[in-house]
Amino acid sequence: MTEDRPAALAVEGVVAAVGPLKILQDVSLVVNAGEAVAVLGANGAGKTTLLRTIAGLNIPREGTIRLHGEAIEGLPAHRITRAGIGHVPSGRELFPRLSVGDHLELGGRFSLPARRALLRSRVLDMFAVLRERIGQRAGTLSGGEQQMLAIARALMTDPRVLLLDEPSMGLAPKIVLSVFETFPILREQGVAILLAEQSLSLGLAAADRAYVMDHGRIVLSGTAAELASDSRVADTYLGR
Ligand SMILES: Nc1ncnc2c1ncn2[C@@H]1O[C@H](COP(=O)(O)OP(=O)(O)OP(=O)(O)O)[C@@H](O)[C@H]1O
Ligand SMILES: [Mg+2]
Repeated sequence: MTEDRPAALAVEGVVAAVGPLKILQDVSLVVNAGEAVAVLGANGAGKTTLLRTIAGLNIPREGTIRLHGEAIEGLPAHRITRAGIGHVPSGRELFPRLSVGDHLELGGRFSLPARRALLRSRVLDMFAVLRERIGQRAGTLSGGEQQMLAIARALMTDPRVLLLDEPSMGLAPKIVLSVFETFPILREQGVAILLAEQSLSLGLAAADRAYVMDHGRIVLSGTAAELASDSRVADTYLGR
C-alpha cells in the first residue's frame, strides 16, 4: 500500500470454509474510514460468511484481515470486537427476555465506565425510541426497533468498523430508511461501514462503493453509480 494511512478494513485473499465446504474463495476488499461500502449478492453468495469471518466467528483458512493496518485474522471474536470491529449479525440475534438497557450494557462491557456512559448517551440520541423503551424486553419490540437495538449494541462496542448483515431484512421500506439514516452520522464520526445486502437498490443507495459476490467470490466492484448502470450486476443474480 502506497498511502500513508492504511485502510480501516482490508481483507486480502481470504479463503474460508464452513466444515469441509469452501465458502469464500480469494476474497479481497477495502473499506476506508468514513466510507460506506456494500457487499451485494444473491441468496447464498457468501455475504454472511464473509462478515462472520471478519468478525472472528469463522476462522479463515487463508488470507489476511487488517484493521487500520493490524492483522486480526485468527484472533478470537471478543478480541476482534475489542480491537474495533462491531458486528450486527444477520437476524439481529437479540436476547428476547433481556431489556434494551441490558443489551446496551452487554455491548459496552469492554469499555471503561466513563466511555461507556458517553457511548450510551450517543446511541440513545441516535435511536431516541430506544431511550423510551430502555426497560422493555427486546422480544416485545417491533422489527425496526429490534434492528435499531442490534445496531445500538454493536455501537456500544465503540467500533471503528461496523459490519451490518442485511439490516433491511423483514422491515418496511420506511423503517429501512430510518435505519440507513444513521449511516451519515456514523461516517462523520469516522466509522467505516460494511453493509451486506441482497437488495441491489438498497445496497447501492446506502453505499459509496460496492462489491458484488457470487458463489463465494467477488465478481465485480465499483462505485455505486457505476454498478447501478452495469447490467452484469443483475446477471450475477439471474444466473443462479
Ligand atoms: N453452517 C453452514 N453449513 C453449511 N453450509 C453453509 C453454512 N453456512 C453457510 N453455508 C453455505 O455457504 C454459502 C454462503 O452462505 P451465506 O449465508 O454466507 O450467504 P449469504 O450471501 O449471506 O446469503 P443470504 O443472502 O441468504 O443471507 C451457501 O451456499 C450456504 O449454504
Ligand atoms: Mg446472509
